[in-house]
Amino acid sequence: MSTTPAALSHVHRFQPATGAALHAPLLLLHGTGGDESDLLGLGTALSPGAALLSPRGQVLENGMPRFFRRLAEGVFDEADVARRADALGAFVREAQGAYGIGAPVAVGFSNGANIAAVLLMREPDTLAGAVLLRPMMPFAEPPPFRLAGRPVLILSGAMDPIVPEDNVRRLAQTLTAGGALVTHETLPLGHALSQMDITIAKRWLAAQELGPGDARSTEWSGRSAGD
Ligand code: MLT
Repeated sequence: MSTTPAALSHVHRFQPATGAALHAPLLLLHGTGGDESDLLGLGTALSPGAALLSPRGQVLENGMPRFFRRLAEGVFDEADVARRADALGAFVREAQGAYGIGAPVAVGFSNGANIAAVLLMREPDTLAGAVLLRPMMPFAEPPPFRLAGRPVLILSGAMDPIVPEDNVRRLAQTLTAGGALVTHETLPLGHALSQMDITIAKRWLAAQELGPGDARSTEWSGRSAGD
């Protein structure tokens, strides 16, 4: 089921939760050249029945939507990265109010995974957790942040031509140092997603037991590190 999107700061699609709405909403963040429709099928596959919120990145690179500017492949305009992540965080809060959903779990692919990583670092209360598919370290020097036990799954590809292994390892270490509960798996894959990603991410999401959350606040509603 789809719903008419509210007039919010980002072009987006929203699919309300179906059934008993037992699961956290998902914030779907597409890769370069994708759009707000790209990951709806992935979201349904990962968490059937969950509400899906899927914005389109506001930067165009040769006509391809992205979530922030880059100077070259893997070289990011860090001021733009920070600004766009803050705007995305504001969009998430607008959408929570408009659609009555709790704090979402981000599911980001590639450029979408990178902006999700930035959102975790700059606004630790906005997301209930994150699934980062083929992410890389978004900042040369990450800001200090406290993620207080939020769960993060990182799936990287051993043959990924875009993301060097030490780069994604540094991201995992940075998020762990900031208090996230990070699970990092390196798959025998390249940059593209496969069924293996879906199987692992679906199992991981189910194991987190993240509920739909409190629609009136952006407080984290998942388990704490000590649970
Ligand atoms: C990025 O620019 O975010 C990464 O290089 C991934 C990509 O979009 O190719």
